[in-house]
Amino acid sequence: MQTINQLDLLRDNIAALRKNGKRLALVPTMGALHAGHMALVEEAKRHADAVVVSIFVNPTQFGPNEDLDAYPRTLERDSDLLRAAEIALLWAPQAATIYPEGFATKVHVDGPSAGYCGGARPGHFDGVALIVAKLFNQVTPDVALFGEKDFQQLAVIRRMALDLDFGLEIVGVPIVRDEDGLALSSRNAYLSLDERRNALALPRALHDAADRIRSGADVAGTLAAASADILSSGFAQVDYFALADSRSLEPLTHYDGRSARLLAAAKIGKTRLIDNIAL
Ligand code: PAF
Repeated sequence: MQTINQLDLLRDNIAALRKNGKRLALVPTMGALHAGHMALVEEAKRHADAVVVSIFVNPTQFGPNEDLDAYPRTLERDSDLLRAAEIALLWAPQAATIYPEGFATKVHVDGPSAGYCGGARPGHFDGVALIVAKLFNQVTPDVALFGEKDFQQLAVIRRMALDLDFGLEIVGVPIVRDEDGLALSSRNAYLSLDERRNALALPRALHDAADRIRSGADVAGTLAAASADILSSGFAQVDYFALADSRSLEPLTHYDGRSARLLAAAKIGKTRLIDNIAL
């Protein structure tokens, strides 16, 4: 594995891989790697000959009161994990390489950016779309992999890749959960023992609501009951608990058997958790 932090070196290495006819996969990350990220890397190996992982804590996707400074940065440990996974390149640029002085471009994706996390975190998906568009241009992958845990992010990136003719395959990789059902997230590290235990109410509520809706229960009533369950289990706030079309993310008030997703975000202590489940 080669670790690169200069754009010209990245381009040279990508050109060398391409010259050898390699199909390239990109796994974009913000580091603090856990088993969920490593599942993306393993899946990437099944889709390509050479895997590039990027680690960049992207400032443009954090709001003014969010956890940019506190976000865990564990580059040495991450590098060890990626070396053991035998990836080809680790792309770990500095902020000034990605956003040099005078940087003035924005990327905004309507449609799937609206509502849910887009409503609670204004500008977040513009920042995600911007960095992912830049990474696509820098790495020029044939395929890029993203976790289904950030389901709205996946929908935004699919839309952007299609709209801007990136001509690459976007693969969504299923959520990796701890044994007790909590979806893996770098933010789980912020949870106290009590919060970690109470956080299980979120996947449980999604699971129960999915069962109820599949068996024909009223959607609005089920969503409201699920939010109430979460609040009575130690969560301080439910940002949303919604049923949406899997591709467009349009909210659904009735379940008609199409591909749909239950999406939820809720705050426990100071930590905001998101999760989702397919119907
Ligand atoms: O999912 C993430 O870790 C980030 O949002 C991403 C896609 C790497 C962009 O910074």
